[in-house]
Amino acid sequence: MRLGMLGFGNVASATMKAFLDNHHLVRAKTGAEIRFVRVATRTPQRAAGRVPDGCEIGDNWRSVVDDPAIDVVLELTGDVELGREAVLRAIANGKHIVTANKALLALHGDEIFRLADEADRHVLFEGAVAVSIPIVKTLKESAAANRLSSVVGILNGTCNYVLSQMSEECKEFATAVAQAQERGFAEADPLLDISGEDAAHKIALLAALAFGVPIDLRSVTFKGIQDVERIDMAFAKRVGYQVKLIARAVLDDGALSVAVEPMLVPDGSMLAQVRGSMNGIAIRGDLLGTAFLYGSGAGGPQTASAVLADVIELANRTIVPAAGTTHNLGFKRSGISPTAIRFPEQRERPFYLRLRLDDRAGMLAQVTKVLADCNVSVSVLLQDEAHEGQADLVVITHAMSSARLATMIPLLREAAGAGHAVVTYPVLDEPGC
Ligand SMILES: NC(=O)c1ccc[n+]([C@@H]2O[C@H](COP(=O)([O-])OP(=O)(O)OC[C@H]3O[C@@H](n4cnc5c(N)ncnc54)[C@H](OP(=O)(O)O)[C@@H]3O)[C@@H](O)[C@H]2O)c1
Repeated sequence: MRLGMLGFGNVASATMKAFLDNHHLVRAKTGAEIRFVRVATRTPQRAAGRVPDGCEIGDNWRSVVDDPAIDVVLELTGDVELGREAVLRAIANGKHIVTANKALLALHGDEIFRLADEADRHVLFEGAVAVSIPIVKTLKESAAANRLSSVVGILNGTCNYVLSQMSEECKEFATAVAQAQERGFAEADPLLDISGEDAAHKIALLAALAFGVPIDLRSVTFKGIQDVERIDMAFAKRVGYQVKLIARAVLDDGALSVAVEPMLVPDGSMLAQVRGSMNGIAIRGDLLGTAFLYGSGAGGPQTASAVLADVIELANRTIVPAAGTTHNLGFKRSGISPTAIRFPEQRERPFYLRLRLDDRAGMLAQVTKVLADCNVSVSVLLQDEAHEGQADLVVITHAMSSARLATMIPLLREAAGAGHAVVTYPVLDEPGC
């Protein structure tokens, strides 16, 4: 099997190094002679001296996707437009694809997988989501017999690192982001991470794998961590929670909601144990119950591990081919169907509320009267010590609708006194997380 590679950055160079270092393993697991024959990248000199003998290096991606000698194209550029053009052309030229480009698949995956399925070509992408965690293979293979009900995870290491630094080391948001960049977790433009968009790309892919729905980024709502304040992290901690950026695809009553947002997670939960730049994912199925997967979400060698696993899988699938077995999303093409979309605000869930009150007699009673009038029951109520005539009050409610919350907020603001904001977060209540 002959390979061509696009890009020679962090992931591609680590993949080449891992291939050279572990070549004997690749051989032992496939029984195949696998060779890199071409690399094309914008700055070819970066690859000089770092590829096997006989592998050509150039700057023209078409020389890879049009080369009839190449069986598999490894798309590792990160460029969405180039990636789309190169992958579609490579498929049309009869090649299989391995990619780690989640943005490409989240935006153009439906088109790419449809054409690949029609051409009976494989598109493998274990490196696109939570690289050390074999979540793509788990959903496609290990959990294949389950009716899945949820996939809930921490899928962006940068956001988790920033939130962990703010909560555990009392770092300011901007300092924590700068540190993530220095340590190489964050994208060059960290907004893709911080805004929740990167996690949205990943959960869109996981939803397609888990539930057999088309990849549709428009049905994913996302919110990032830029407005998370340390004060709320501290209060959350005092009442037994942590603030995490949670990506969820949850099916209930036949409707699917797919969202990314900062949420409170209980201290004792598995997700709360996911610290720093690590990732964690809980999947829930009717047969397996809950499974929790944990590992690095980024890194050259980690991504190389996933990319090379896909190369090995391809060798095993294509060198001993079984007719009609190609189904890139785990579901047969005929099994992919749209499902009713329910946005997260339509689901009932508990909420965390923080109100700043004037430190006067009767204020607490006014607030609890609003809660009672709105028929909201409370699981935690905590009043902080007063400073300069004001005190924070934290409430965690039982499950309630966002509509009821929206009705209650102005009443709470009125009860708290003019000019006081009410901070709210949904509380994660998925079983097994
Ligand atoms: N880094 C990780 O930990 C990680 C983890 C999971 C998935 N991924 C995904 O893996 C992919 C690659 O990430 P990376 O970290 O390796 O990125 P990177 O270090 O920026 O490398 C990108 C490579 O692609 C080349 N390139 C970019 N645009 C190009 C264009 N238009 N034409 C030709 N070559 C082009 C770059 O050339 P130059 O060298 O000249 O810039 C560079 O060699 C991305 O899709 C990323 O989301 C990365």
